[in-house]
Amino acid sequence: MNLSDFLNQSCVTLSHSNQLSQLILSIAEAGKQIAALVAKGKLAGVSHHLDSINVQGEAQMQLDISSHDIFINCLAATKLVVGAVSEELASPHYFPDHLPDAPYLVCFDPLDGSSNVAFDGVVGSIFSILPAPPNAVRSEEMFLQQGVHQIAAGYVLYGPATMLVISVGAGTHAFTLDPDTQAFELTHPNLQIPAHYPEFAINASRQRYWETPMQQYIADCLAGEEGVRQCNFNMRWMASMVADVHRILMRGGVFLYPKDNQVIDRAGRLRLLYEVSPMSMLIEQAGGKASTGRASVLDLYPSQIHQRVPAILGSINEVDLIEQYHQR
Ligand code: AHG
Ligand code: MN
Ligand code: MN
Repeated sequence: MNLSDFLNQSCVTLSHSNQLSQLILSIAEAGKQIAALVAKGKLAGVSHHLDSINVQGEAQMQLDISSHDIFINCLAATKLVVGAVSEELASPHYFPDHLPDAPYLVCFDPLDGSSNVAFDGVVGSIFSILPAPPNAVRSEEMFLQQGVHQIAAGYVLYGPATMLVISVGAGTHAFTLDPDTQAFELTHPNLQIPAHYPEFAINASRQRYWETPMQQYIADCLAGEEGVRQCNFNMRWMASMVADVHRILMRGGVFLYPKDNQVIDRAGRLRLLYEVSPMSMLIEQAGGKASTGRASVLDLYPSQIHQRVPAILGSINEVDLIEQYHQR
């Protein structure tokens, strides 16, 4: 079944079902265009660093900007989106030509893990679709909605195969791009994350900055069979959230980007609206759990569009246990 047929079936019970299908197909189109650009590697001439830094204080690459532009153009063509928040823009982008009753807002990370581009490593795009409050005045506040209100969320993974993983609130489903037909075909319906899988993903070079509960949790995992967990753990770190979360959706385990105290007033590395919140919806729709260690990600009330939060996502038993480490 291709993406379009799938959306026709699975969006029927949702309000604005045709419009939602149209919007998700436009994001899939953006994904195809970015996949083609990424696949050209250095030949596309867009992988070089720019002199600019984004609102996060991070160096931008031409490929970050090109991917952002592709997203904006595809979203604009639908006329269904009032505004969008992108990692690459300090303020929201408002679409001048949207329909008067356009129902959606979109938050996106156009190219996640983009430092991997330098060595042909895996990257992705992440998106979250929120309802546009009716008659709302254009403002950042429109976007500050709890993750539970997401209408849909997903990512496109630019790996050996290009994959689109989405949820419209009824399970998490993965599609593979057929390079011959350029259609996204449903290859992994109804993903289910096992409740336990002994594998964690964390950037261990930051260990000295972690809070005590995270220090203790990782120490107990590393102690293996001889320790309190009585189990040997494996570790993987792709330095691309899309790639790490994709592995967890496929086989389980836990992804961790905890709060660390290197930058005192920074709650975490990853951004709530266009990284952690959409990934949390996908994880929970696949039977996993998403937490900051102290609260459910999807219940958080965002305070800023580029707010950062701690991210602990994956197999439900493991995330429950990590919350217990934080309560102790
Ligand atoms: P982005 O490239 O969009 O800024 O995001 C990179 C993120 C995420 O993909 C990954 O999990 C994390 O940064 C990697 O962080 P480290 O550099 O600490 O490994
Ligand atoms: Mn990112
Ligand atoms: Mn990015």
